[in-house]
Amino acid sequence: MKPYSELTKEELLALKAELDAAFEDVKGKGMKLDMSRGKPATVQLDMAEGLLSAVSSNEEVYTENGTDCRNYGLLTGIPEAKKLFADICEVEPNQVIVYGNASLTVMFDAVARSYTHGIAGCTPWSKLDKVKFLCPVPGYDRHFSITEYFGIEMINVPMTPEGPDMDLVEKLVAEDDSIKGIWCVPKYSNPQGYTYSDETVRRFAALKPAAKDFRIFWDNAYCIHHLYEEADRQDQLLNIITECEKAGNPDLVYEFVSTSKVSYPGAGVAAMISSEANLKEAERHMNFQIISHDKLNQLRHVRYFKNLDGVKAHMMKHAAIMRPKFETVLQVLEKELGGLGIGEWTKPNGGYFISFDAMEGCAKKIVAKAKEAGLVMTGAGATYPYGKDPKDSNIRIAPTYPTPEELAVAGNIFVLSVKLVSIEKLLENR
Ligand SMILES: Cc1ncc(COP(=O)(O)O)c(C=O)c1O
Repeated sequence: MKPYSELTKEELLALKAELDAAFEDVKGKGMKLDMSRGKPATVQLDMAEGLLSAVSSNEEVYTENGTDCRNYGLLTGIPEAKKLFADICEVEPNQVIVYGNASLTVMFDAVARSYTHGIAGCTPWSKLDKVKFLCPVPGYDRHFSITEYFGIEMINVPMTPEGPDMDLVEKLVAEDDSIKGIWCVPKYSNPQGYTYSDETVRRFAALKPAAKDFRIFWDNAYCIHHLYEEADRQDQLLNIITECEKAGNPDLVYEFVSTSKVSYPGAGVAAMISSEANLKEAERHMNFQIISHDKLNQLRHVRYFKNLDGVKAHMMKHAAIMRPKFETVLQVLEKELGGLGIGEWTKPNGGYFISFDAMEGCAKKIVAKAKEAGLVMTGAGATYPYGKDPKDSNIRIAPTYPTPEELAVAGNIFVLSVKLVSIEKLLENR
């Protein structure tokens, strides 16, 4: 099939009639499908059943240093959980604070303490006229919601397969001291599945921000979330903590991780990795929030996974379930849309998403069209600050939750929607 833009008006109209009929046909089936949120499927959660009973008696509740996990204590986490996260992130245990169940809370708190009390001796952001954040786009909607909640102005920075446009990042942070942070998902990014190149990581570590309290919010949510076992299909990310130390900027970054998509989302364990000064500051504020986190859950995780190898082996079981799902979606996209010039998409080696770019001005209509046939997608615009995609073209595809059979149907509805909306768009100018 030729690119749609090369078809005549008559050819487009004939094609539209054919596709309309196919669309009405699927619509009539009354499907209910959801490709909107990045959730693991139930079978993935079932895999970690042993975690539920990993600590099951009074004798088993003590940490390696004899602390009773049922009681208060160890505010910054149990030693063995610090060690596990340190190994995952290739740092030392004293560079880790282990928190509660979700990393988003930890990110929210990092923004909140800068906002209410200020960090590194700087003026609290709440007392400044203007506070801004850089937001690589498309990106993760919940990051953008946190900064929007605090009234922080968000500036779009285009993403590339190598990471954010670093020329722009360097320029903006150097010239504007109201820019206080940047949201990053450096490995298997949400939604494109891109991993920042070594050069990008080094340029981040060497940033010279005008604001002393500028921080890189390095959300390494997908750090071990490969889809493939082969080494050449596993993306590698340079260690930002080490690079910042080498560049003489140890305080520049907060790294966040969690086991949300390793064990259970909402019932996992989260951690922050940073410099001694940053961790001390976080701990000082945490003293007012909580006496200790859920150490039993931390202990359960360590007992169940045992060590980094245990975690990696578990991640390969996730990959075995998710890989065919990603491949099903990618095959439908390639077979049905390849060469038509009406969409481009990423082909990630890991993470939870595929990012789709439709023709300009088509994303909202495609998502609405798919919904007519019973397929729920992430809202168009969600991948941009304030929900505003300036080109109205990006759509996030989340293939993990539906079954492979459902995905084949969902993929079909999606491509039909893309084709029909694109034809309508092309016909506007004929
Ligand atoms: C980039 C990113 N960070 C964080 C989260 C949520 O993590 P948590 O459950 O630890 O708050 C997600 C979930 O989709 C995510 O995609």
